[in-house]
Amino acid sequence: MRARIEALKEKNDVLLVAHFYQRDEVVEIADLTGDSLELARKASASEHNIVLFCGVGFMGQSVKILAPNKKVFMPKIACCSMARMISDAYFDDSIALLESYGITNIFPVTYINSNAEVKAKVAELGGVVCTSANATKIMEYALKQGKKIFFLPDRCLGENLAIQNGLKSAVLGEDSKEVVQGADVICYNGFCSVHQLFTPEDIDFYREKYPDILVAVHPECKPSVVAKADFVGSTSQIIAYVKGLKETQKVVVGTEFNLVNRLRKPHNGIQNTFVLSSTKPECPTMNETTLEDILKALEYIDKGESYNEIILPKDTAIKAKRALDKMLELS
Ligand code: 13P
Ligand code: SF4
Repeated sequence: MRARIEALKEKNDVLLVAHFYQRDEVVEIADLTGDSLELARKASASEHNIVLFCGVGFMGQSVKILAPNKKVFMPKIACCSMARMISDAYFDDSIALLESYGITNIFPVTYINSNAEVKAKVAELGGVVCTSANATKIMEYALKQGKKIFFLPDRCLGENLAIQNGLKSAVLGEDSKEVVQGADVICYNGFCSVHQLFTPEDIDFYREKYPDILVAVHPECKPSVVAKADFVGSTSQIIAYVKGLKETQKVVVGTEFNLVNRLRKPHNGIQNTFVLSSTKPECPTMNETTLEDILKALEYIDKGESYNEIILPKDTAIKAKRALDKMLELS
């Protein structure tokens, strides 16, 4: 099957892209792997006219928004559950709620884990997109706007950025009107169900067992987890951090299982890299894509037919591009 995939990829000049949370066999066969920022930037700038994207919907959409002339297909239209927590209608409702609280001077920042319609709404209010890799930089820019920041959809990333900047945060719909009014960063109440699995107690457990262990986590983890970590970063940054450690250094990682598992190569028969949870932190939708799906998509592409093609309304894509372009310019 791999040979057939390679042949069809080559014949049709397809760029096969995979996020690090994909299954091993998918990552192994991909032409390009990376975190959300790298994949959006590199896949959209590539010379290939056809991109086959193994990841979740917002990732494929980001490539299509940034490079509208490319054809972007997905072997599986898999959806990030966090991105599904916000829609353009929920965005409007949130802005209306903020306005009812007397908060009108709003600068929206959307995590890239959101759909094109939401990014377009954010662009309409002059806002910007961020990813886990550039969130600190984008926040610096956002803070200079002198407005209240509305961070969506990931409340944890928003809260973590507020803490990092010594600012007050509140969660819209959860905190009282007064708390929201007093906050500098107002977060939408979305979250990643996979990264919610990690707890401060998991970190305590590993530190007790291995006092010299290091802890690396993704910023989608709860602030109580991030507070206890030695390193916080995007998927690419976590991989670089772990690979940069001595092989004998014990490290426990709080992010999706497939990524961490690939880092768990024993050294002299001793395991030094651990998964920060006793429950397997698997992203179900990221795990949907199989080699069979890739082959099927390539067979359709080979026949000149469409297969889970990303098609966006022109107006939405143009607006969403403004918020993504701003992010790329700043990062
Ligand atoms: P990265 O941008 O760090 O790859 O993260 C994407 C994601 O969905 C994490 O859950
Ligand atoms: Fe979305 Fe969480 Fe899966 Fe990342 S791990 S794609 S944020 S559901």
